[in-house]
Amino acid sequence: MNFLRVHGGTPLSGEITVRGAKNFVSKAMVAALLGEDTSELRNVPDIKDVNVVSGLLKLHGVLVERDVASGIVRLDPRNVEIAHKADIDTHAGSSRIPILLCGPLVHRLGEAFIPDLGGCRIGDRPIDYHLDILRQFGAKVEKLESGILITAPHGLQGTKVDLPYPSVGATEQLLLTAVRANGFTELRNAAMEPEIMDLIAVLQRMGAIISVDTDRVIRVEGVDRLGGFTHTALPDRIEAASWASAALATHGDIFVRGARQADMVTFLNTFRKVGGAFDIDDDGIRFRHPGKDLHSIVLETDVHPGFMTDWQQPLVVALTQAAGLSIVHETVYENRFGFTDALVRMGATIQVYRECLGGLQCRFGQRNFFHSAVISGPTPLRAADIEVPDLRGGFSHLIAALAAEGTSKVRGIDLINRGYEDFSGKLEALGAKFEQG
Ligand code: EPZ
Repeated sequence: MNFLRVHGGTPLSGEITVRGAKNFVSKAMVAALLGEDTSELRNVPDIKDVNVVSGLLKLHGVLVERDVASGIVRLDPRNVEIAHKADIDTHAGSSRIPILLCGPLVHRLGEAFIPDLGGCRIGDRPIDYHLDILRQFGAKVEKLESGILITAPHGLQGTKVDLPYPSVGATEQLLLTAVRANGFTELRNAAMEPEIMDLIAVLQRMGAIISVDTDRVIRVEGVDRLGGFTHTALPDRIEAASWASAALATHGDIFVRGARQADMVTFLNTFRKVGGAFDIDDDGIRFRHPGKDLHSIVLETDVHPGFMTDWQQPLVVALTQAAGLSIVHETVYENRFGFTDALVRMGATIQVYRECLGGLQCRFGQRNFFHSAVISGPTPLRAADIEVPDLRGGFSHLIAALAAEGTSKVRGIDLINRGYEDFSGKLEALGAKFEQG
């Protein structure tokens, strides 16, 4: 199955369930490497990223048992060993997760080999912050032709790091290294996303000593030994918001079981300003089209607690159906509007700009990045043949095809499997009309 023939024009309505957050579960599995005992992670979704991390951990001698239906993954890191470079290479290009194995592997084995990384093409995706952090802990970083070799002949020493930007990955890199380093580590300008806080919860359960201050300063006191953990992953707020935007774009009504208000406050405020309706209860959130015109808005993405960059693409599809001019200023990634080309081909009126529109100057201002978009609506969408560009853009293309009149062919949908569990089953549950190719 790598394409869907989608018959648009049917509102999505019904109930779906989101399980553990894609951008947390992989990191928690890597954290298990640091422990001397077994760990159990619950609410793990059946997505490709989890398969990639399981494969990498097994390569290093970790026993991984997975029950997909119950979402339980058990990890036994007691026989960790150095993997063969050739085997690791088979995972090259599959995701960005391998970079987070560095700290844990250097602590356990004295070295780590990281293949060239993958991940969505939404910008250059550098790892300079990660490598600088490892060097500051005293690691030696050697670039080889097929990847990076990290060693620490004298062990890893606690350090003080000032992040140029509150990078999620770099914050995770530091956490996974500092917890077992010698002495104190301090991180300024740290990322504070809910997924980061859940990773800190996991590490504390293992025996780590970590404090988080309101001024984005994280302090870690290295310990000699970490145990295992048992933890239920927080729900995926990106997937929940993706379905909420799908409800708006298709005039639908979707109950997202598992969605948690606390992680989505900024999204919910924006959803309400666009005119969407939502009802919150203990088990999830019901997202509804209001049955009247949606409102255009000015939106700027930012690090947590701002409007998340991954929420932007699905919402842009809903904004093509809102009356007036909407402005979206993407400040986290420099190249995250590529998906709008297909929307324009389907009849949307979207123009992208190099300028920082609608908000403050960001890192990408006055450089050659088209990181602001103006969307004029409402515009009826027509079916088209679409090639999915990346994970979140791909989901947006699916929403657009579902909102469009006519039948679209959406190719490359395996990319969507990376981050949306059983999404064709969910589309079916919501009444979407499509065939798998
Ligand atoms: C994580 O990516 C997520 N991925 C992304 O989700 C998410 O959009 C992003 O955090 C921001 O919330 C995973 O967790 C697997 P960053 P990450 O480091 O850690 C620059 C999705 O669709 N940067 O916070 O790679 C970087 O270029 C994905 O689920 C450096 O310059 O994001 C970007 O402009 C997409 N040097 C900014 O920081 C570095 O060494 C934020 O990146 C690292 C990052």
